[in-house]
This record gives sequence, structure tokens and C-alpha cells, in this order.
Amino acid sequence: MNLSRAADLWWKNAVVYCLDVETFADGNGDGCGDLRGLIQHIDHLDRLGVTCLWLMPFYPSPDRDDGYDITDFYGVDPRLGTSGDLVELVRTARDRGMRVIADLVVNHTSAQHPWFLDARSSRDSRYRDWYVWRDEPPADAAEGVVFPDQESSLWEYDKKTKQYYLHQFYKHQPDLNVANPEVRDEIARIIGYWTQLGLSGFRVDAVPFLLETERVQDTVALPDPHDYLADLSAFLRRRNGEAVLLGEVNLPYPDTMAFFGARDGGGSTDELTMCFDFIGMQQMYLSLARADAEPLADALRQRPDPPEDGHWATFVRNHDELTLDKLTDAQRAEVFAAFGPDEDMQVYGRGLRRRLPPMLDGDARRIRMVYSLLFALPGTPVVFYGEEIGMGENLALDGRFAVRTPMQWSPEPGAGFSTADPSTFPGPVVEGAYGPEHVNVRDQVRDHDSLLSWFRLLVDSYRACPELAWGAYTVLDPGPDARAVLAHRCDSGEPGVGCTLIALHHFADADVEAAPVLPELAGVTLTDVLDPAAEPVVVGDDGRLTVPLGPYGCRWLRAS
Ligand code: NOJ
Repeated sequence: MNLSRAADLWWKNAVVYCLDVETFADGNGDGCGDLRGLIQHIDHLDRLGVTCLWLMPFYPSPDRDDGYDITDFYGVDPRLGTSGDLVELVRTARDRGMRVIADLVVNHTSAQHPWFLDARSSRDSRYRDWYVWRDEPPADAAEGVVFPDQESSLWEYDKKTKQYYLHQFYKHQPDLNVANPEVRDEIARIIGYWTQLGLSGFRVDAVPFLLETERVQDTVALPDPHDYLADLSAFLRRRNGEAVLLGEVNLPYPDTMAFFGARDGGGSTDELTMCFDFIGMQQMYLSLARADAEPLADALRQRPDPPEDGHWATFVRNHDELTLDKLTDAQRAEVFAAFGPDEDMQVYGRGLRRRLPPMLDGDARRIRMVYSLLFALPGTPVVFYGEEIGMGENLALDGRFAVRTPMQWSPEPGAGFSTADPSTFPGPVVEGAYGPEHVNVRDQVRDHDSLLSWFRLLVDSYRACPELAWGAYTVLDPGPDARAVLAHRCDSGEPGVGCTLIALHHFADADVEAAPVLPELAGVTLTDVLDPAAEPVVVGDDGRLTVPLGPYGCRWLRAS
């Protein structure tokens, strides 16, 4: 392992932690999470082993889409703090070895953004062409509506100027027109601004929609949208050579690959640095529902390798619904039946508004196995706040807000999130079995058997085994009668100093014997990474590695 290369390409083995400042920690006692509160809790993230914070939108916003509707791309929502606080956060995080990235939401603005207010005031507005207008909605206006519970068309009529504007998401989020060079310049300025304030890159919202310019009428669409993304990426890297773009691209693998760019033929990314692995994530849930590792194994076998300096970003949950849109109807029905049978748990006909532990009925063995998988699968793991302690959801809240409840720091009624009256919180703290009296950071820090301790062990082990992030991986045949086991190996390629890690994850509630065959490891002794006290395992002379696993068991075995 070339250590300076590993440091340059820091994201390849990063641990990304996503949080919304508003719901993380209140530092000034007004009931709303803020940047100061986050700074005060930075050591929790440091001890967890986080190396990169992803801040969800913190910009001024009427908050009709949880901050994804922005009215000022150069500001900080005053409820969360100031740009001074943001710089302090970046500084403090750096001190703990953490970089900070933020959501870049430039597919659209809020309808209350001054640009849009001006644009809709007259067809002659200087901002008119910053948005996408048409005299008549196209015939396919209803196709691709993202939030079908609220919207029935992608086009909204504007009475005053008698034209329709495009909104890929809610009607209060008009799409920006990136075919307009002024808009492209402005987006670059936004990127430059935050980079100058210390951000190390962005999670780019809704990338395929951002690049989609074919709907523009009477304007020249972008000749090649991917060239635009490459320009943006080049601009960012000129400003900050270590900055990354982590893209939200939920498409089949071959289509997603195009977003890495790699115009040099495969070696380096020149568009997005990382793309979320939405396909692998969905297949993992299908595997869980079926107690059969094959769907996930198959996805991993099909998943193309990203360019050498790029990576997939792996995740178990995020702030949105657990989307199952890439499964077939029958497969989705299986996952719904297993993990969200009530209609109230489902949303938009495609996903579940739940967190993992309640979906798995709180089964600690199964929850631990899933997170072991997150850190053992090739890709950069992205953790959503609260996952490290096993927070649950609140289905009494609207839609996706079910999974966006205040972070649970301690057992008190305010969950240690804030000392203010809970009625002033951005949303209620979870109650019941997953409430703060049962699930909180303070108790789990002290408990060696807690989920938090398990997370720390996983993060530590993942960072100590660079072959996971850097090596080549192979999905193995788990052996006869072990269909429920996902067996894969990661090999760091350097002869003599190379390492091989064999990871085994069992998806069923039963005992099983995994028996993959590894001919070139015949006779080699493997040590257990997650349990150094465990007896080493020796690969048989015939190359067969026989490992018994209990219900939902998992092991990382390493030859070095
Ligand atoms: C994707 C974000 O993840 C989601 O939360 C948001 O509603 C849409 N983009 C619109 O910005």
C-alpha cells in the first residue's frame, strides 16, 4: 500500500457520516439544532472514527423540503448559525482529522428564491432564462413525478406570465436551466465560495436531473451534459485538489458508470468521484427479506469497477425513504411484506419510511451483521446519523420525516438534543422501545456490548484493513448448502506485502457451515479481525475454508 497515494485519495477508505445540523444537537438552547451544537459533539464523531462529515442543506430556506429548497446559496440558515460558525466547524473537524462536505442542491431553487421571484415577474426578467419555461406542458408531463402523493405533473402553470415552468420535484422547487451559461457560472461560483470557506467537496443532489436539459424549449440544450459535469469537476479540483463529488445517481449500474466520467479510459474519474450504490443497497434488502445472499451476491458480481481513483458509496439507510424502485414489483412486494407490511410504513409506492432496527424487529444479531456488511463490502461506507446507536423511526410524522427525528444523546426526555421545551424542537423525539431511555449515546459509550461499540470496532477494523477499500474483490461460492451466506474476498495486490480478507455474512436465522474454496490459500492460517481472541482458522490442504456460522453470524478472516 502506497501510503501517500492513500492519503491523496482519502475518500477511498473514508468513513462518511451524514447529518442534518437542525436535528443533531442544539448548542444555544433554543430547541433547534445548530452548528455550535454540532461542534460540541464533534468528539463523538471522532471516537466513532468518522473521517468525513456530510452536512445536509444548511442554507436559508422556507424549509418546505427539509432544506432542499434553497433561497440563498451563499448563506447559512440563521436558525443554524452563521458562516463564521461553519468555518469554526470545519476548523474543529480538521483538528480531529475530519473533512467536511455539504449538499450541493442546484437542480432547483426554492420558488421563493429571489431569482425565481424575479423570473416569474415578467417574461422579460433578466432571470427568466435561469429557469425552464414552456407555453404548453409536453404530452409526457406526468411522467417521472418523484413525489406522486403531492404532484401530478412536472410542469406548473404560472398565471402572471402565462407559461409553465419545470419542476422535477415539488412545484415549489423550480428547476434551474443549466443550459444557460449564466446559470453554469453561478453554480461554479457557489462551489468556489464554499470551497474557499473550507469544504472538501459536495454531495451532489439529484445529478441525472441536474444534467437533463432536453426539456428546455427555445434554448440550446447542453450538447453533452457529461461534458458540463466534467467542467464542474475540473473547476472544483482546480480550487481544491483534494475535493470530492459524491453523487446521488439512482440508475442501473451501466448508466451510473457514465457519471464517473473516466475519459482517460478507466483510470481516473473526471466527473463524480463517488456514486451511491443504490442497486447493491436494494438487493441487500431483498437478500435480507429472503434470507438468501444470492440477490446481493449477484448485484456485486454485476457491479462494474469504478475508475481506480473513484469509489462506490455504500449505505444502509439515508434521510429519504428506503427506495426499492429498482426491484421488480414482485421483489418490492417481498421486501414490503418483510419489513414494512403496513401501508403507513410505505411511501410513494416505492419505498419504506423506516430505520433498520425496527425493520429487523430489533434483532441485534441481524442488525450487527448488516453493519458488518456495510464496512466489509467494497465501497466508501456512508452512515446516517443515529444508525450507530440503532435509532428507530416515528411513523406518526409525515412522510420521510419519520426517519429525521432528533439525535438521541442521553436518556432524558429531550434526549440530550436540547435543554429547551421539546415543543420547540424541529420534530418530536422518538418514543417507546426506540426512545432515548432505551437508545442513546451516553449509555452505549459505557457498554462494551452496545451497537455503538460494535460500530467502533467495525470502523477501526475497516481502517486497519486497507484491502477492503483498495483491493480487488471477488464474490465467492459459499459452498454447498450455504446459499444464505455472502462470502467475498478482498485482495490487496502487492506481492509479498499483500493481504487477503475473507468476509462471511449469514442472512438466515439458522446454523450453517460456510465452505468456500481458496486453492492458493491452502494451509494458510487466518486470523479473526473482529474477534482477535477467537481461534485462528486454517484453510484445509484442499483449499477449502470451513467456517461454522450461527444465525446472522459474520466473520472477517484475514491472511497477511
Ligand atoms: C434528493 C434529496 O435526497 C431529497 O431529500 C430531496 O427531497 C430531493 N432531492 C429534492 O431536492
